[in-house]
Amino acid sequence: MPDLTPNVMLSAADVQTRITALAGEISRDYPPNEDLHLVAILKGAFLFLGDLIRVMDRNVTIDFMAVSSYAKGTTSSGEVRMVKDLDSGLEGRNVIIVEDIVDTGLTLAYLQEILRARSPKTLRTACLLSKPSRRKIDVKVEYIGFTIEDRFVVGYGLDYAEKYRNLPYIGVLNE
Ligand code: IMP
Ligand code: MG
Repeated sequence: MPDLTPNVMLSAADVQTRITALAGEISRDYPPNEDLHLVAILKGAFLFLGDLIRVMDRNVTIDFMAVSSYAKGTTSSGEVRMVKDLDSGLEGRNVIIVEDIVDTGLTLAYLQEILRARSPKTLRTACLLSKPSRRKIDVKVEYIGFTIEDRFVVGYGLDYAEKYRNLPYIGVLNE
């Protein structure tokens, strides 16, 4: 059972710098007078959402959804289940899904399908991390913070058995 301090893969400063740049990309893609509705996927995306909206200079609203795709540990069960639905509807809104990491892509493919069915004006996805080598389904992610190799990462919202979410950086557990 790994319980040591994870090795730093992306420092807290790296993460903040990239998030500020991502907010700029998002900002340029939408007309300045349009509000954005950010839907964060719990629990992993909570810090990413918090830091992203603090560097966005326009009206934003937020909501949360929770899905479960992983059992305890590091292997995907391959199945996605909704655990908490949104509080409000998406019709006519500019919706951005905010997710911690895209791995196989199964979670995001599921989320995009059910959210698209709620008739948003636009639907895009922002993911802090992407592991393209693990993809099982071709899912579109418009905003990616960092592309990483196939390592199990923790910190900055991401967990191993519910721990390490509070680390201010992205780390790799010692094997
Ligand atoms: P996917 O459905 O395989 O794309 O998995 C997405 C979800 O798996 C993410 O929202 C994370 O909760 C979890 N996940 C995937 N890779 C990692 C990782 O390296 N560390 C922590 N959680 C991960
Ligand atoms: Mg997640």
